[in-house]
Amino acid sequence: MAITSIRGFNDILPGTSGQWRWIEETAFSLFGLYGFSEIRIPVVEKTELFCRSIGETTDIVEKEMYTFPDRRGDSMTLRPEGTASVVRAYIERKLYTAPVSKLCYTGPMFRYERPQKGRYRQFYQIGAEVLGDPSPGVDAETLEMLMRYFAALGVEGVELKINSLGCAACRPAYKERLLGFLKNTEDRLCENCVRRIGTNPLRALDCKSPGCIEATVGAPEITDCLCGKCNTHFEEVKSALSLYGHDFIVDSRMVRGLDYYSRTTFEITSGALGSQNAVAAGGRYDSLVKELGGPDTPCFGFAIGMERLALVLGTDSFSPTELSVFIPMGAGTKEASVGIVRALRESGLPVAEDFSETSLKSRMKRADRLGARFVMILGADELAEESVTLKDMAAGTQDLVKWNGLESLLAERLTSR
Ligand code: HAM
Repeated sequence: MAITSIRGFNDILPGTSGQWRWIEETAFSLFGLYGFSEIRIPVVEKTELFCRSIGETTDIVEKEMYTFPDRRGDSMTLRPEGTASVVRAYIERKLYTAPVSKLCYTGPMFRYERPQKGRYRQFYQIGAEVLGDPSPGVDAETLEMLMRYFAALGVEGVELKINSLGCAACRPAYKERLLGFLKNTEDRLCENCVRRIGTNPLRALDCKSPGCIEATVGAPEITDCLCGKCNTHFEEVKSALSLYGHDFIVDSRMVRGLDYYSRTTFEITSGALGSQNAVAAGGRYDSLVKELGGPDTPCFGFAIGMERLALVLGTDSFSPTELSVFIPMGAGTKEASVGIVRALRESGLPVAEDFSETSLKSRMKRADRLGARFVMILGADELAEESVTLKDMAAGTQDLVKWNGLESLLAERLTSR
């Protein structure tokens, strides 16, 4: 029996991978304009890294990690996200000697969630992290970058939701108020939330169980409990976002599924997705570097879900340069073929050479099945004329075209449809 893939793990096939590459390349070249450089982080880390950063009482750490012992018996985990690894590398590689580090990354993440549309067990993220700057301007500029990125790809109709989760000075008092509220509704909360109520009451606001959603209606709002500094920070983020011309909604129930956040958090959702509608999310995490043993370093970052972004974009958003097929007819055309095909590729045109040496009819059929828009035929007659027969497969027309200038003519015809 043939072996199948693992549930929740996808193959990104050739029809889609070109779009994915474009999504990644557009991200990295745009992020570069804002001063970001790529960091490549490992896929596997010590389990402790994720427990200490994402939080012991989050769903990710409690239920969703791919954790296994290595051959020595040490606990390892397939990364469920990238921020923890970036922070680990930042501390370990002493990147904090620079005043600010702006790092971006892409790659697969792993979470043992129930697979559905837009939710997989292996999924890809594009992430960006600014380490070492506490300014609200950083939050707003990074969000501006993200929105410009979506605009560059042609993404429409996304909604930016923001919140502030306060800081170590003001969150404890909010937690107390929330705890008081939750104690009165405890009988309606799910088992999980009841268990976590003492350690992490905020999780109840993020719980998707209908009972918890209902029980937390009217819960105290964090934005009413912010200290002066957090309040000022939040106000400045909001006014900077308005300066950039971005609409946003304040959602004071948005607590995020990871525990490392402080102050600004956000989610960008799209109506084009189903229930898994967050296409990107992130926020400020001012204590994480210190908690993981580094110097006091305020940070802000985000991650985009690649599969969800591709779903929002749909298949029409990206059209790769179409393939042309080159058919040399007869041994005498070998030398000229090498030069012509090389020149076409050097000018950026994708060409597949047909080596089959069967009849022209069957070679034309093959080119058609490969989806070729243009076919170039080089036979003895064309060789004598230093030309090729250029066949437009869509229009059904053909003409004799000189080798000299073939690249520009083909490029022109490929784009002028
Ligand atoms: P997150 O909200 O857990 O945040 O994930 C970010 C994005 O990854 C989500 O908005 C979603 O698009 C995508 N995503 C998450 N889980 C799945 C899944 N199972 N299948 C498909 N896509 C998924 C983080 O991971 C933080 N590290 C973001 C961050 C960076 N915060 C600060 N810096």
